[in-house]
Amino acid sequence: MTVPRFADKVALVTGAGSGIGRATAIAFAKEGASVVLIDLARDGLDETRSLVEQANGSALALSADVTDEDAVQAAFAQAVAWKGAIHCAFNNAGITHATVDTADIPKSEFERVLKVNVLGVWLCMREELRHMIPRASGVIVNTGSVMSTHSCVTQGGYVASKAAVFGMTKNAAVEYGATGVRINAVAPGGIRTAMMSGIFENLTEEQRDQSVQQIADIHPMKRTGRPEEIADGVLFLCSDQATFITGAMLAVDGGWSAL
Ligand SMILES: NC(=O)c1ccc[n+]([C@@H]2O[C@H](COP(=O)([O-])OP(=O)(O)OC[C@H]3O[C@@H](n4cnc5c(N)ncnc54)[C@H](O)[C@@H]3O)[C@@H](O)[C@H]2O)c1
Repeated sequence: MTVPRFADKVALVTGAGSGIGRATAIAFAKEGASVVLIDLARDGLDETRSLVEQANGSALALSADVTDEDAVQAAFAQAVAWKGAIHCAFNNAGITHATVDTADIPKSEFERVLKVNVLGVWLCMREELRHMIPRASGVIVNTGSVMSTHSCVTQGGYVASKAAVFGMTKNAAVEYGATGVRINAVAPGGIRTAMMSGIFENLTEEQRDQSVQQIADIHPMKRTGRPEEIADGVLFLCSDQATFITGAMLAVDGGWSAL
């Protein structure tokens, strides 16, 4: 019998209550990891925990806001106490703002997106680094986006935040390259999740279908992606098949970033 890739490992996932985070938590569990689930949304967390358990996995669900320093520190203390270590961490919680051009983004919206997508990733990464560096091992993956490197009309604040995620990822990878801790990012293209549905909130069903088709058509593969396809990329980066990869951003985007 082959040993699962993440047997005896603990994987922590933020934004685990929905979409890409949920799919990744389930994928880790299916490959043998115990998973720590972190999200703001209690309902989403409970549903993910039950899906992990249905996949014969074991999960610790912690409700926390990744922008709240005290809440993050408390969640990580509980996570470490659960099984004694965190081996893999996926900093994935993220939000967008309303679809408006740069000059029309309200300051509060710009700040909110930067706070969750940049400060939230950094606060979690800081806890992970403090835990992993003394152990001389561990893998961190941050969720960037095709928009870490490409523009997107009406998403100026989001683009700024995802460019920052790539910058933080590379910087930390260089700073800690010799410690045994690897730090990478995954860069999804358009993925059908609640985040994408949120963009179409005020549209009719017909308009929504047209918009989804327009997003699909941007991708050279002429389709949107599935959350499970991002999970595959994250697990690869966390696995022993990626032991010489650090500071990289893996595009999982149907070819969008090649345009
Ligand atoms: N869906 C896409 O097309 C796409 C493309 C590129 C990148 N991404 C990125 O992927 C990540 C996951 O997005 P998704 O599409 O699965 O969206 P989603 O909305 O389905 O999931 C995001 C999750 O993050 C949680 N969250 C939000 N703010 C939080 C906070 N302050 N603290 C804790 N949890 C919080 C939400 O409750 C939700 O469960 C995000 O970083 C997003 O920017 C998504």
